[in-house]
Amino acid sequence: MKILVINGPNLDRLGKRDTSVYGTETLDEIERKIKNLADELSVEVDFFQSNEEGEIVKKIGEADAYDGVIINPAAYTHTSVAIRDAIETLKIPVVEVHLSNIHAREDFRKKSITAEVCKGQICGFGSSSYLLALRYLSGKL
Ligand code: DQA
Repeated sequence: MKILVINGPNLDRLGKRDTSVYGTETLDEIERKIKNLADELSVEVDFFQSNEEGEIVKKIGEADAYDGVIINPAAYTHTSVAIRDAIETLKIPVVEVHLSNIHAREDFRKKSITAEVCKGQICGFGSSSYLLALRYLSGKL
């Protein structure tokens, strides 16, 4: 089983962003945690991060070879019809994740236009949001 983990804009800056919202872990540290769990679950994982909407759309378009996708579209969650449309083309399960609880924040963050075409959304658990998504996709929740 092979899972693709996609992170959107500014998630490469974790550790420097508001730590009261996003915690102190860097993206490298989060990816290491995901990789450790993936090894435990005998799942292969690939990681992709981009600050560019078009690059994320392109990567989703190449995801057919995977068994599932975990995506944190970051700010594009609330704005990107292009990423939503790309997710909609996939036949494999896609789980949207967020570090923060987007429903407990500013009104503009409460609406996810991408989650509507995902299998589900996990948010508010910090890096554990990714780990829960991985456990779900691996079938070993
Ligand atoms: C985020 C929430 C988004 O609203 C925000 O723009 C991010 C991070 C999260 O993981 O909590 O960049 O996706």
